[in-house]
Amino acid sequence: MARNIGILTAGGDAPGLNAAIRGVGKAALRTHGMQVIGFLDGFRGLMENRTIRLDDATLSGILTRGGTVLGTSRDKPHKMELGGKVLDMRDAMIDNCRLHELDGLVCLGGGGTQKNALRLMEKGLNVITLPKTIDNDVPHTEAAFGFDTALTVATEAVDRLHSTAHSHHRIMVVEIMGHNAGWLALGAGIGGGADVILIPEVPYDTRKVAETLLDRKAAGSHFSLVAVSEGAFPVSDDDPVARPEGEECAESGTARLSRALAEITGLESRVTILGHVQRGGTPSPRDRLLATRLGSAAAAFAAEGRWGVMVGSQDGESVPIPLEEVAGKRRMVPLDHPWIATARSLGISLGD
Ligand code: F6P
Repeated sequence: MARNIGILTAGGDAPGLNAAIRGVGKAALRTHGMQVIGFLDGFRGLMENRTIRLDDATLSGILTRGGTVLGTSRDKPHKMELGGKVLDMRDAMIDNCRLHELDGLVCLGGGGTQKNALRLMEKGLNVITLPKTIDNDVPHTEAAFGFDTALTVATEAVDRLHSTAHSHHRIMVVEIMGHNAGWLALGAGIGGGADVILIPEVPYDTRKVAETLLDRKAAGSHFSLVAVSEGAFPVSDDDPVARPEGEECAESGTARLSRALAEITGLESRVTILGHVQRGGTPSPRDRLLATRLGSAAAAFAAEGRWGVMVGSQDGESVPIPLEEVAGKRRMVPLDHPWIATARSLGISLGD
């Protein structure tokens, strides 16, 4: 039976983190009679023993706030940069948990955080994790919180780019986050009505993309929306967008794609990079609900002493998944996923 737990948020921030902190904290305090502290700025704050008490006052009023009230960082416990050196600081982190007499630590984060939590677990720390990422690439959960909000922002951006593309008879190439997975670009592309969607799971052929745009032009549509995932890449080395091996290039892949499409089609093309706008601001109701539900379940698992798991969502239930099955794995868009079939059935080009 856990009495004291710690919480930290690590990796890139995402909408819904505060809802999750609140969900873990309130359930721990009110239902399980635990004391809760938060470590600031991810694993760095854990190493430096920077904490705040999470009580009714600090957990109040944060549900709708974007970002994370605890702060975050991309530090790795086994490879911390410290005074010009890279050191394994896991023992120091575990000592700090002991100092606060914690029964365990709840780590909120994406793929990197799942791996880092496992590394601490292997050194003897009790951990529970929650899946947070706008990339939606954490395995064994049907969704990670942050994704729904980012999908809403990216879809609205594609919507808005339509009218200006139409007015100027232009190609609009919009770069959407997602790291090496295509969930966000595919979802926003379908939801926003993009004509071409390029994702890392389906390497693209720039000439085929250009053909699609020329076909649209021939059919009377003098504008096109191309949604490209930041991790998308051309299928072959002789593609106009491919960078000759070893060669430095100041232009991003998305910029090269836009330029190549303009050159081949003779249409004007512009690039929009959505960037961190997709991660900011108020979490959507769906993300708040998911984060609160998973957070509350994490407190219940801690109370039962069920450590070493990520709390995932499966068929709407909050389930414990052994961390070893999650850490180091990435959930890509399967090629037979219904979203891919849907896009193709509408005639949306995936560039292949
Ligand atoms: O993992 C979330 C994410 O936003 C990715 O989509 C993106 O590639 C990366 O983080 C950006 O990282 P940073 O905020 O460190 O620039």
